[in-house]
Amino acid sequence: MTAPSKPKQALDLEGALLQELQGDVSDSIAQQLLEELPPFTATSVVLDNGCGPGAVTMAIMGSNPPTGLKIHATDVNPMFLAQRKASLTDNPSWPVKVETMDACNLTFADNTFDFSFTNFVFAGLFDDVGAASHILRTLKPGGTGVITGWAEMPWQIALKNAHYKTRGTEEPMAPFLSKSCYQKEEIERATRAAGWKDVKYVQKEAYLNLGTDLRRWASIAWTFLGTPVGGWQQRDERMWEEALDSIVEELPRNEWSKVEGGVNKIRMVADVAIARK
Ligand SMILES: C[S@@+](CC[C@H](N)C(=O)[O-])C[C@H]1O[C@@H](n2cnc3c(N)ncnc32)[C@H](O)[C@@H]1O
Repeated sequence: MTAPSKPKQALDLEGALLQELQGDVSDSIAQQLLEELPPFTATSVVLDNGCGPGAVTMAIMGSNPPTGLKIHATDVNPMFLAQRKASLTDNPSWPVKVETMDACNLTFADNTFDFSFTNFVFAGLFDDVGAASHILRTLKPGGTGVITGWAEMPWQIALKNAHYKTRGTEEPMAPFLSKSCYQKEEIERATRAAGWKDVKYVQKEAYLNLGTDLRRWASIAWTFLGTPVGGWQQRDERMWEEALDSIVEELPRNEWSKVEGGVNKIRMVADVAIARK
């Protein structure tokens, strides 16, 4: 029997579900970042590096920045870039230029930016030192660079245990579950190698909204993140409900879980590096 391209219970991958999976944690962290920084001015030029759905750009625009500020929003994923462009159609006055660009090889000139944000991008980069070097190179002297990574994603434990329970402990961890944190030590290693100096580190936390129906969130999470090395197998279709049972049972037991007004939430913690060039 050939393996299914995906189990019949898996959902269709689309942007709205990804949004439901991620909630607004990166938006919340992006808003909190601004509290740590010098104020924007009418001449500020800003990079939203690996902009994705646009948490940083939206936090900046939501902070009512001075007229004259300019934002460059870059990413490699066409789905996110299309989303960014659509949101600019809704907000035509926003001073945002959207471009396809690899964070590991920024093509902006030296000394371009007053502020450079790279929010939850480093975990997925193949050359983090190169990316940190490009951030430094493209900052103006006196400009501020910010890199964030997830220090703690406690919901991952439930998904990793579903992997072990349904696939055994010998099978390599599902790739999307094996590398998604990027903690202070990793930021320190990459920024030091890239020549960043006097980096200040802070932690910020945000609660991920898992909704009122944990099984729905588990089903979205397992669809997006549970794909094993080499792709889905018949076994994963057979064991789908067991995987969800395990996630739904374990999530509320986590010490960082809480229920507010019937809504399940779990705390996430970000490591933030901030440096002036
Ligand atoms: C977890 S999302 C974070 C998005 C956004 N910065 C936020 O705060 O919500 C990671 C983003 O990094 C982008 N990305 C991954 N590799 C990249 C690369 N080499 N260059 C630029 N963007 C990249 C992905 O396409 C995705 O949009």
